[in-house]
Amino acid sequence: MNAIMKNKNRTNQMMKKTLLILISFTSLIACKTPETQKAMIEKESFGTTQDGRDVERYTLVNSGGMRVQILTYGGIITSLEVPNRAGKLQDVVLGYDQLSDYEKSSPYFGALIGRYGNRIANGKFSLEGTEYTLVQNNGNNHLHGGTKGFDKVVWTAEPLEQEDKVSLKLTYLSKDMEEGYPGNLSVEVLYTLTSENALEIHYLANTDKTTVVNLTQHSYFNLSGGKDILDHILQLNASGYLPVDETLIPTGIVADVTNTPFDFTQPKTIGRDIEKEDVQLKNGLGYDHCWVLNHPEIGMRTAAIVSHPTSGIQLEVQTDEPALQFYSGNFLDGSHPMKNSDGFYAKRAGFCLETQHYPNSPNEERFPSVVVQPEETYTSKTIFKFTNK
Ligand code: GLA
Repeated sequence: MNAIMKNKNRTNQMMKKTLLILISFTSLIACKTPETQKAMIEKESFGTTQDGRDVERYTLVNSGGMRVQILTYGGIITSLEVPNRAGKLQDVVLGYDQLSDYEKSSPYFGALIGRYGNRIANGKFSLEGTEYTLVQNNGNNHLHGGTKGFDKVVWTAEPLEQEDKVSLKLTYLSKDMEEGYPGNLSVEVLYTLTSENALEIHYLANTDKTTVVNLTQHSYFNLSGGKDILDHILQLNASGYLPVDETLIPTGIVADVTNTPFDFTQPKTIGRDIEKEDVQLKNGLGYDHCWVLNHPEIGMRTAAIVSHPTSGIQLEVQTDEPALQFYSGNFLDGSHPMKNSDGFYAKRAGFCLETQHYPNSPNEERFPSVVVQPEETYTSKTIFKFTNK
């Protein structure tokens, strides 16, 4: 009798459990947020360049609705929409509405930069006994790969869809002596939007002659939607930075940030010290310097965290690069038309966090090498991860 009762009880308990599992399963389905969607990637035309090349714009969307739009022209990120504290999508990068604006005069809005991010003094360097001359497109210096750097070429695009992420693979063959650089350089940049609201950027390059490579991404961020970025709170994991001369070429020494306006080891607003009397701030017209990131031996690590108190949006930058150029948009001068608006971007409307090797490394033996040999593969990785609080 007892055994029968026990069995009955057990059966009852099992039925209850099954019912509970069923109820929780159905309520799970019912609670699924309407915004949850399958990650996807779409393509549309973005016009034709002045010399007749077709340009496409790809839109990558993740399961939470985060959206990034990328052009085949310059690999330019034209928009990056992330959820703010109120759960609304907010575009956090500067850019133009039209291809012609990007072609005419862009301060590298959203673009891929190569072959060399930042400056090479006097546009000259020597490699294996040969002197190479590059264009001087920034005073006497060479800047961001020249007059037609990777920001102005049309890349070949291949969309890739996986279960929980979408990618856009961009490839470009930079011919031997293009913009003065030796070697046929075959470049691949993989943009991946993950379900964790991260935009990952993987760079790969191979050469058939010894050359120098330093690739980066030049997005201008503004996490508030406001007219300038001075109230953003920034932290940089860097106890050193590279002082520069008046033409923004590093002097060659690594300076300690302690007790200088360049100390972002503890979070502070970008604006707190930017107007301080300081010869380096004068040379940069604000922040336009290369910070030497702590712990290069770790590889992938957090380089920067920046957030805005009102929107609640936080951007964390991770990289395996040794350094990061923090540029506070000092050259923006009200002449660049703002997308989706009749307005113009004001001075310091956006900031850039360009993960990279040090500027002018080809001429500085003290800096980590940027030389790539034919038997090597250049790789570099950066992640822009967004959260809100
Ligand atoms: C980089 C440089 C700046 C400036 C911008 C583009 O960040 O360091 O000096 O040239 O690009 O305007």
